[in-house]
Amino acid sequence: MKVAVVGKGGVGKSTISALLAFYGVSRDRDVIAIDADPDMNLSSCLGVRNDVTPLVEMEDLIAERAGGGGLVRLNPKVKDIPDKFYVEKNGVKLMVFGTVWSGGGGCTCPENAFLRQVLNHLVLDRDEIVLVDMEAGIEHLGRGTGEGVDALLAVVEPDRRSIETKLRIEDLAADVGIDSIYTVCNKVRGAADREFLLEDLDEEPLGFIPYSEDIRRSSQSGEAVSLERSSLRDSVKVLWSGLAREVM
Ligand SMILES: Nc1ncnc2c1ncn2[C@@H]1O[C@H](COP(=O)(O)OP(=O)(O)OP(=O)(O)O)[C@@H](O)[C@H]1O
Ligand SMILES: [Mg+2]
Repeated sequence: MKVAVVGKGGVGKSTISALLAFYGVSRDRDVIAIDADPDMNLSSCLGVRNDVTPLVEMEDLIAERAGGGGLVRLNPKVKDIPDKFYVEKNGVKLMVFGTVWSGGGGCTCPENAFLRQVLNHLVLDRDEIVLVDMEAGIEHLGRGTGEGVDALLAVVEPDRRSIETKLRIEDLAADVGIDSIYTVCNKVRGAADREFLLEDLDEEPLGFIPYSEDIRRSSQSGEAVSLERSSLRDSVKVLWSGLAREVM
């Protein structure tokens, strides 16, 4: 299962990626979580406090693989990269990409060529479950990688703008070869929120994650999110099962 988590800024992409990763590990699955967000908040949601050097900053490595001095190798060798550069935390293999895709999808700098190839390898060749915590846009994915992604999981919250962002992302998905798009509703505080979302969404969401004081507190203290609270575990279980049903 290869899932890219997308959505408007602040909707909870990193939180939900981390919750899914922990849930997968609790079910004895191998999970690689990819932090492809410049703020690197997936790392913090997973409980990684020490600085992890993002791949994008590994200049020597990128120059060696993807070239430098104006010559870019578009298909650099990267098969050894995941096992060399993941950090394992609470059972999850985390890879930190760092700020990626500056200059948009068309950028052919060595950093982009390298990271794109690593992502491509992860979604196409690896057996683990791969969860990619992305920025709002998906244009940079590229067709090859997009076709390897089984599902785009769009996070929305009970707010019109997050739904508009989701609709824009859907329009872009086909361009990169992704045709399976699912929605999860986050920060849901009650029946009124649910109704609002059900009315405004075109399709049935795969799950509803409640607004949780525990999540809020963990992000204040910089601790890992936790599934311990049964209401969260249950709602993440429903989301996981929905994804599994659709893509596995
Ligand atoms: N279900 C929830 N209940 C309470 N707070 C939540 C919930 N989900 C996310 N949050 C809080 O909302 C904020 C944004 O969450 P998160 O960082 O996961 O969003 P994001 O979409 O990854 O943001 P960004 O676009 O900046 O990467 C955080 O403070 C987080 O703790
Ligand atoms: Mg984030």
